[in-house]
Amino acid sequence: MKALQIVENKLAICEIPQPQPQAGEVLVKLSAVALNHRDQWIRAGKYPNIVFNTTLGSDGCGQVTALGKGASKKWLNKTVVINPNVNWGDDQRIQSSSYQVLGMPTAGTLAEYISIPQDRVVEKPKHLTDTEAAALPLAGLTAYRALFHHGELQKGQKVLITGIGGGVSQMAFLWAQAKGAQVSVTSGQPEKLEKMQELGAFLGFNYKVEWAREAAQQGESYDLIIDSTGGPQLNSLIKLARPAGRIVFYGATTGLPPKIDLYRMFWNQVTLQGSTMGSDKEFVEMIAFTAKHKLVPMIDSVRPFSEALDAFNRMEQSQQFGKLVLSLT
Ligand SMILES: NC(=O)c1ccc[n+]([C@@H]2O[C@H](COP(=O)([O-])OP(=O)(O)OC[C@H]3O[C@@H](n4cnc5c(N)ncnc54)[C@H](OP(=O)(O)O)[C@@H]3O)[C@@H](O)[C@H]2O)c1
Repeated sequence: MKALQIVENKLAICEIPQPQPQAGEVLVKLSAVALNHRDQWIRAGKYPNIVFNTTLGSDGCGQVTALGKGASKKWLNKTVVINPNVNWGDDQRIQSSSYQVLGMPTAGTLAEYISIPQDRVVEKPKHLTDTEAAALPLAGLTAYRALFHHGELQKGQKVLITGIGGGVSQMAFLWAQAKGAQVSVTSGQPEKLEKMQELGAFLGFNYKVEWAREAAQQGESYDLIIDSTGGPQLNSLIKLARPAGRIVFYGATTGLPPKIDLYRMFWNQVTLQGSTMGSDKEFVEMIAFTAKHKLVPMIDSVRPFSEALDAFNRMEQSQQFGKLVLSLT
């Protein structure tokens, strides 16, 4: 079968043996898979413990075509989405010490088939196509935990989501809106801001200019800020947080902040909270929330699997607006 692997610092579509389902596993014939920034970090050599000849990819949707010994017959022929958690464990507060994300070092979804334990699959929400469902798992789970577990988002609250071109940011936007929050966004690209305002964003700010001052001048302040960029702008986010507000961050794309305004943080009782992916329980809740509100992930483009490298290049340059999906049908 074909699989996209990292081979000596480069991505390559390789021909490898099709996996055989082991005891308790289901074999999924993938129909659509999606990229996350994690895959691009791995490609760029900026991810810890990279193991060459590993199949990348955390997101996928497909049909169960075979069962390992002891796997439930209920899964056969079902169309499923894949939970990218490996060994989260039972603690809702924190992942276990053996936690991994599917797609490094465990063989991931960017392939024609994947064989995984049966408790890693959930039935695809009926309102979604395979392509849309493939876009959900990693970004959806990360956004869900950041908003609802750490952010404790309530209806009517004001939310700011930074870098709205990002996959996780856009999922966070959809779910915060569905919860009844008033959501504003930032982006480095004015056309993305325009699109988001068409989709109901309250305000949009271009982070490449003095956006935080503009927001403050407009009287903006937020109950919850969802961020994945970190870097020097963190103090602007602290300034824009309401008293008792929360900043939940799940990435640090622009690196570490040179300093943190602790004075303002303690006076305003602002919480700065890190977040990573989400528990298995949250994965099931996230899929149910998506189905209940009939939410549809934003898709930038769907390419044939053979054009995977073009999709990676588009992500590298932040050109995408929505998830980058690869089709295997
Ligand atoms: N901890 C976890 O479990 C977890 C899970 C998922 C992702 N992450 C991390 O979170 C980050 C985003 O992941 P993703 O998959 O959503 O990435 P993505 O789809 O590639 O999106 C990245 C976005 O970051 C925005 N950005 C870049 N520079 C920025 C800046 N200076 N200020 C504000 N926004 C900026 C851009 O938004 P615009 O195009 O709008 O400018 C870009 O589209 C990555 O660092 C990733 O590794 C962590």
